[in-house]
Amino acid sequence: MSAKILAGKEFAERFKLEAKCDAQAIKDKYGVEPGLAVIVVGDDPASAVYVRNKHRTCAELNIYSEVIAMPATATKDEIVAKIRELNAAEKIHGILVQLPLPKAVSGYEAEILESIDPRKDVDGFHPLNVGKLVSGEAALVPCTPLGCIKMLDAAGICIDGARAVVVGRSNIVGKPMLHLLMQRHATVTVCHSHTKDLAAVTRQADILVVAIGRPQMITADMVKVGATVIDVGINRIAEKKLVGDVDFDGVAKIAGAITPVPGGVGLLTVAMLMKNVVTAAKMQLSQ
Ligand code: GUN
Repeated sequence: MSAKILAGKEFAERFKLEAKCDAQAIKDKYGVEPGLAVIVVGDDPASAVYVRNKHRTCAELNIYSEVIAMPATATKDEIVAKIRELNAAEKIHGILVQLPLPKAVSGYEAEILESIDPRKDVDGFHPLNVGKLVSGEAALVPCTPLGCIKMLDAAGICIDGARAVVVGRSNIVGKPMLHLLMQRHATVTVCHSHTKDLAAVTRQADILVVAIGRPQMITADMVKVGATVIDVGINRIAEKKLVGDVDFDGVAKIAGAITPVPGGVGLLTVAMLMKNVVTAAKMQLSQ
């Protein structure tokens, strides 16, 4: 048996097209483009690539965007002051602070993210949106887990009643993934670094989502035959070699469907950000 490859590009193109149509509908109805502001602090090279990509995708979809580059020496108060300015800016419907923050301000990450107007919190990291997600209310939700759910739906993989295992308990992926899967009536187990006999748990999964940040940690013996395996990890193991948290070659031989790395869910994150900007704009403009 050989797994169906879930190619991120194909799904991302579809979701971006949906966001573009929705952005056009907003422009037609309200006369304004949805707008995104991205704050990037310092000069982390990976962040610079991600931010450029977001800016370029906005342009493709006719979404207004601003990149606010602040020096690594920026203080917490300066960042928060900029956020407050964007909270009040009519043209801006979504605000994203690119992570990680430089060391000097990383201790203030929670305070910085909490200063974003929750209605403009297109990352879904504000405690109000986290709380809404947990209690099942409509909320802006983190882009990567949202992309995983949308991809499962688009691929025709049934979540309802499935046994889902999430490996990793981060605020960005693992925890929101738990809640999104549970909302869709999966039976969900979350594993992490203290889980005993991890393989015994992962082998029960119909849907296995891995976001642990350890290169190729999930091997074929840890996967049930026919399972859907979603690999959220991106690990650089050599200058030109990126791998996921799943041993793709081994697992693809027994899974029913699998996402590759690169070319998997990473591509969905930006598409979902665009969808969140459109959702946020709709909410704000219809009030
Ligand atoms: N850095 C890596 N992933 C993300 C993300 O989803 N949001 C933000 N703000 N920064 C990131």
